[in-house]
Amino acid sequence: MNNGQKRSPRAVVLFGPPGSGKGTQAKLLTERTGFPQISTGDMLREHVQAGDEIGREVAKLMHAGSLVPDELVNALVKQRVARPDCRDGFILDGYPRTQQQAERLGVLLEGRGIDQVVIHLVVDYNKVIARLSGRRQCPVCGTLYNVLSRPPKQADVCDLDGAGLVIREDDSEAVIRERLEEYERQTRPVLEYFHSAGRRLYEVDAGREVPPVVCERIYKLIENGG
Ligand code: AP5
Repeated sequence: MNNGQKRSPRAVVLFGPPGSGKGTQAKLLTERTGFPQISTGDMLREHVQAGDEIGREVAKLMHAGSLVPDELVNALVKQRVARPDCRDGFILDGYPRTQQQAERLGVLLEGRGIDQVVIHLVVDYNKVIARLSGRRQCPVCGTLYNVLSRPPKQADVCDLDGAGLVIREDDSEAVIRERLEEYERQTRPVLEYFHSAGRRLYEVDAGREVPPVVCERIYKLIENGG
């Protein structure tokens, strides 16, 4: 409850390994809060698809499962959060994932008077590999499916718009393993940074329950911390 007082804008950081459900939760939280989803992965894939200068710079790195340069993603996020739909808050999906990115985000948000809350989605790696191997996505509306846990009504066809579903290029087993190693090397250590910087950080078990149940837990945490 905020007793009618205007709340500070909020940045919800969804943090976790590939396949932990960041994109799934970001979409559900967008419906629940009205805050836009800011996915650095989606933004980068749009550039790759457009074949523009940024796309050409990052395509090889992404296909290999490596992170792209900090300065590039920092600039994309800075531009995106300046847009009017981020005025009350936004959901960061897949950013920050290095300490340098986390530091830059801290400066950006402090400068704009935006509160930050970090949600760490905790999921066992075996589950993550199974999830990513079964992921399918609609190229038109972005809806995420899973052949095991959330199959479409008709195989490989989007329930919402009838488009043929696609498999992400970096969802092959070899690249999934590289992405997980990159997470261990560069991203997981950012949790220690969040602790030392005194960020509001919550761990959420995202490996057992269906997405709407996980979303409800996150929503309660970001609304009132419990
Ligand atoms: P990005 O697109 O961010 O990929 P990622 O972090 O590897 O995460 P994913 O999108 O694979 O998984 P997710 O956690 O969103 O899970 P999802 O909800 O889809 O990044 C891709 C690449 O871009 C990087 O490798 C890097 O090259 C580059 N990049 C991006 N950001 C960068 C940055 N900040 N800095 C540098 N480089 C960057 O769920 C997965 C599957 O599980 C789905 O099928 C879903 O239906 C299913 N599922 C979800 N939740 C549940 C549940 N509760 N129960 C059962 N199934 C579930």
